[in-house]
Amino acid sequence: MPEQEQTIYDVVGGEPTFEKLVDVFYERVAADEKLRPMFPEDLEPGKYWQFLFLIQLFGGPSRYAVERGHPRLRMRHAPFPIDVDSRDRWLGHMRAAIEAVGIAEPARSAMMTYFERSAAFMVNADSSVENVMQWQRKYDEA
Ligand code: HEM
Repeated sequence: MPEQEQTIYDVVGGEPTFEKLVDVFYERVAADEKLRPMFPEDLEPGKYWQFLFLIQLFGGPSRYAVERGHPRLRMRHAPFPIDVDSRDRWLGHMRAAIEAVGIAEPARSAMMTYFERSAAFMVNADSSVENVMQWQRKYDEA
């Protein structure tokens, strides 16, 4: 039998690493004046789900599936107006958290690639359309 491939979860140090990652990420979200209002007053439940989701995603125990079910992330994000700027802020906080926790290559790039690709699917509010409309109104008035 071939040896089982090591997961990102194992390589970066398992649960304690993801606990720290989520701590740093949430500290940054809490200090972000645009993102903070989208989150509920009590950040703890969201932090817990984020933690379970990430350990499962990167090859750790499937506790998110057991305790929460299917992630359905786009649907779970539908109540929040997430535009491209919010996506970039979110990604910036995650990048900084990965850095702060000291996750090394190649895990760092593999994780960021996942986040960059899937963050696009969470965008559900189009600030660029509003920009075009404002421009159009100015043009019409001229
Ligand atoms: C790759 C991108 C993203 C991933 C993987 C992700 C992941 C998650 C997960 C796993 C949860 C918890 C879901 C649950 O309740 O079971 C969550 C909640 C949430 N996410 Fe995201 N998210 C992403 C992008 C974003 C962005 C760009 C925003 C914009 C602000 C955002 C805002 C939120 C909010 C407000 C919640 C609810 C937190 C709560 O109820 O406490 N997320 N996200």
